[in-house]
Amino acid sequence: MLYENLHITNNGELMIADTSTLDLTKQYGTPLYVMDKQQIIKNIKMYKEAITTFDNAQILYASKACDFLAMFQLCKQENIGVDVVSIGELYTAIKANIPVEHIYYHGNSKTYQELEYAIQNKVGCIVIDAIEEIHMIQEIASQYNYIQKALLRITPNIDPHTFDEVKTGVLDCKFGFAIGTELIDTAIQEIQKSSNIDFVGFHCHIGSQIFEYDAYQKTMDIMLQFVKQMQETYQIHTKELNIGGGFGIPYTNEDSTICITTLFNQLASQLQQFCQTHSIEIPKILIEPGRSIVANSGITLYTINGVKQIPNARNYVNIDGGMTDNPRYALYKSKYTIVCANKMHQPHDSMYTIAGHCCESGDLIAKDVYLPQNLQRNDTLAVLTTGAYNYSMSNNYNRFTKPAVIWVDGNKHQIVVHKETLDDLLRNDVTIKEA
Ligand code: LLP
Repeated sequence: MLYENLHITNNGELMIADTSTLDLTKQYGTPLYVMDKQQIIKNIKMYKEAITTFDNAQILYASKACDFLAMFQLCKQENIGVDVVSIGELYTAIKANIPVEHIYYHGNSKTYQELEYAIQNKVGCIVIDAIEEIHMIQEIASQYNYIQKALLRITPNIDPHTFDEVKTGVLDCKFGFAIGTELIDTAIQEIQKSSNIDFVGFHCHIGSQIFEYDAYQKTMDIMLQFVKQMQETYQIHTKELNIGGGFGIPYTNEDSTICITTLFNQLASQLQQFCQTHSIEIPKILIEPGRSIVANSGITLYTINGVKQIPNARNYVNIDGGMTDNPRYALYKSKYTIVCANKMHQPHDSMYTIAGHCCESGDLIAKDVYLPQNLQRNDTLAVLTTGAYNYSMSNNYNRFTKPAVIWVDGNKHQIVVHKETLDDLLRNDVTIKEA
């Protein structure tokens, strides 16, 4: 099995931690997101240990990976900060009582009202992503007689080997200020004129699902050269250097892995050497892992509604979920490991394509995966590694309701997000008067 928190009972049923997946489906129905809380805590602990290699470092969980209230509460319990990218995530973080100084607010297109909400709530740091933002922050902060801490988001022009939709560090990209362009100088000059901005350093994030040590080392190198140049040109002493997230995790046995401890050891010695050589004070390092904190904690359970065998083509399995709860195949052709949770002892040796319930041919969860030969209606499928970017990307296309999220903890479990009801779908709809 791909993960150590998944087991098989003598009857061939899938367990997550010490909880039966089939018991959960009986109690809550499907589709159902199930996450192992202890696995999330374990992932956080791994990062906590790995960052001790830096003299001064902080973890910010990239909440876009999975952003319901309980997840923010867990971050508070584990005493880690969060990166938020919208007013909704910021609101949820505040509701979870995350200390505001541990909230970093991102976004390439923030509105005046959103910035005002963030500043009113004393958000720890705003990561500036556009020139206009500098002016808005200055205006709002001076109105509130407040000094707002900020970082500037830099695109270091690095092209990691990952899928195009999640590359964020290349020159031609909607995020940040590209290294080597005049826009950076304009931004710095504007910031230096802004007396209500406490400018502490730089942020970069090169992409997501990255396995190359090299890509991070190159990024660190480019960013350190940049820090040096900023010190020489603008007398900026970088107090914080945020190197983003993106650390890859395996979804199938063919995927690679990246050892965070090894990576951080390499980056820490690179940082130390550079700063020593160039007499630069070592900045505090921030990291923003999202996927790697939650992905392997989660599975999604579906019920099979039917199986269709098309001679000389494919065998389709129709399930009761789809791109509404997991749009990642439709968007990125993402691969998953999928098992039949009630037939774990049977050989998974027949090829199927898993079709979602939406009225759209592209709504698949996986193409050509191996499952037992005798799949039938009411069997339960478990899609593994769905803890990240599944719940948070779920939607109501075709007016399907979003599934519940259950957290298991050993043999106990609790609901952390209720299943949406049909009435929830109508909550904001207006009944117009009949003519
Ligand atoms: N920091 C910033 C500024 C980011 O934009 C992201 C992800 C992260 C941190 C966290 O990256 P992670 O550690 O999760 O790879 N929806 C896509 C992933 C989009 C990632 C966007 N930014 C997917 O389902 O694969």
